[in-house]
Amino acid sequence: MKRIHIHLPLPVPNRLYGLLHRSKRTFAEQTPNLRGDRNIEWSWIAAHLPKGPGEALDFGSGDTMTSLIAAQKGFRVTALDLEPHFFYWAHPNLQFVQGDLLALSFPPQHLDLVINCSTVEHVGLRGRYGIRRPSVNGDLLAMQYLRELMKPGAIMLCTIPVGRDSVFEPAHRVYGEERLPRLLKGYRIECADCWVKDEENRWVPAPMEKALSFTPFADPSCDPLKTAYALGCFKLVNLS
Ligand SMILES: C[S@@+](CC[C@H](N)C(=O)[O-])C[C@H]1O[C@@H](n2cnc3c(N)ncnc32)[C@H](O)[C@@H]1O
Repeated sequence: MKRIHIHLPLPVPNRLYGLLHRSKRTFAEQTPNLRGDRNIEWSWIAAHLPKGPGEALDFGSGDTMTSLIAAQKGFRVTALDLEPHFFYWAHPNLQFVQGDLLALSFPPQHLDLVINCSTVEHVGLRGRYGIRRPSVNGDLLAMQYLRELMKPGAIMLCTIPVGRDSVFEPAHRVYGEERLPRLLKGYRIECADCWVKDEENRWVPAPMEKALSFTPFADPSCDPLKTAYALGCFKLVNLS
């Protein structure tokens, strides 16, 4: 059975609001969760985006602004997603394409830049984002196909869940010592920044070994407040 969440606005006095807010942090968030993950990923991508011109693909763009940042940096950008999305902006260098990366054919070796923000870990996991065709190695196939689309030396900005190797269907995969090298095969890591949650549920930078030893957990409902992993942000260079 599907669940829907309904948010009802309830006016409360400021002091009561403050008390409730503090209690929520104290009682509900003693264990880490994903709150704030995209702030880390989007800011990291913005900080590491090179300057255009060039051709860029925002793989699994959702309705986020990462493709718009790349367009404003001078790239001609295709924002690609399985699901339909509406952007509240239009830019002459930005187009949205709805489709499955692995079912579309793009010209080989034409990309200068790929943005892969919190996307590859979902490829082939049936039951989320309208994914119907399961593919155990969909993530590995996607990284290999993207490499074929990239020019030699082209860059991918890739942010993914890291920690002890896990697959939480239908939510996501988590990359650890076993699968991370398989995922990044054919790419050179130019820079890697990892983040973990501290005891106050705040993201803090961490060494890769610490991030890879994080024990992740997830809930089948895909509720980000019942999910935790470490984050890996990688600037990758296509070796071919
Ligand atoms: C967690 S969301 C991330 C969205 C966005 N990049 C962000 O930073 O919030 C993952 C996105 O990947 C898309 N996706 C998953 N598999 C895909 C595929 N094979 N081809 C294209 N998009 C895919 C999903 O539809 C979803 O919008």
